[in-house]
Amino acid sequence: MSKKRILAIETSCDETSAAVIENGETILSNVVASQIKSHQRFGGVVPEIASRHHVEQITLIIEEAMKEAHVTYEELDAVAVTEGPGLVGALLIGVNSAKAIAFAHDIPLIAVNHIAGHIFANQLVSRLEFPLLSLVVSGGHTELIYMEKEDSFEIIGETRDDAAGEAYDKIGRVLGVPYPGGKHIDEMAHKGEDTFHFPRAMMQEDTYDFSFSGLKSSFINTVHNAKQKGEELDSEDLAASFQAAVIEVLVDKTIRAAKEKNVKQLALAGGVAANKGLREALETKVAEELPDVELLIPPLSLCGDNAAMIGAAAFTKLKNEQFANLALNGTPGLSV
Ligand code: KG4
Ligand code: ZN
Repeated sequence: MSKKRILAIETSCDETSAAVIENGETILSNVVASQIKSHQRFGGVVPEIASRHHVEQITLIIEEAMKEAHVTYEELDAVAVTEGPGLVGALLIGVNSAKAIAFAHDIPLIAVNHIAGHIFANQLVSRLEFPLLSLVVSGGHTELIYMEKEDSFEIIGETRDDAAGEAYDKIGRVLGVPYPGGKHIDEMAHKGEDTFHFPRAMMQEDTYDFSFSGLKSSFINTVHNAKQKGEELDSEDLAASFQAAVIEVLVDKTIRAAKEKNVKQLALAGGVAANKGLREALETKVAEELPDVELLIPPLSLCGDNAAMIGAAAFTKLKNEQFANLALNGTPGLSV
């Protein structure tokens, strides 16, 4: 089979990204334009601002990705785009750009789920083998997804309230670090100790679901009560205690699920996969308790939102000829 090239586009949140991927595993280019600076002063992503930036950037980013890959439109086998989940206005910019390219160059259009994309980021490093369990942890999602084969996704556990990244960003605000707080809390956590022993929610319960809002409230109350008493708490110990609680629950449930499902591979995915503490804890636990399971952890550059992961996930659909048509729409609440 000749090499198949996919131009992929991702605009579901606050990164405008385009990539050219060969056979779902080789990155020819992966251009990511972050808008973080424009959203930072609002303490979160402002949907309207995100859409406007995508409109301004998308054509330039696609051109740059094509140029960097040294590929012409005639050499493309398909154009893929994130269909959802995400912000509707943001998704629509990517979807409409992809549709225009598919129509103008008469190539197939492939609709990709953003969560599947995060999992397939791992395929840009190692070949995926099934059955596989993925822990998807990002700003909007915390899910344990069981994949019996490359096109089947079963959510066996998910958060009942806040996503892990969302909890990081919320407590980041309390500690006064810039948005998004995850990376900063992670750095602070490595300099502190777990002295506060925050609650580990739903640890003993017979479910793979998660809950982070109780932990977040407990954190906020601790800081608030100290402030009222005029006490100064150690920010690094607070960060370390929060991180220890998040990681313990994520790792415990993931290891339990991987054992029960008897998987070949365990794949970490999503923006929070960049967390140093989580990466280290999973590596240690898998080595100790699941020596026969291969642990996949994406490089930092592929943890956050990017189009390369969308191109990797799209390859399965190209092989199966599962194409979208020009009526494709953005679907904000799309499930995996
Ligand atoms: O996957 P992503 O780029 O966007 C979504 O699809 O949500 O994830 C962004 C999330 C943010 O909440 C951010 O704070 C978090 O990932 N994050 C981290 C770290 N780096 C990014 N959380 C904890 N530790 C990190 N090192
Ligand atoms: Zn994401």
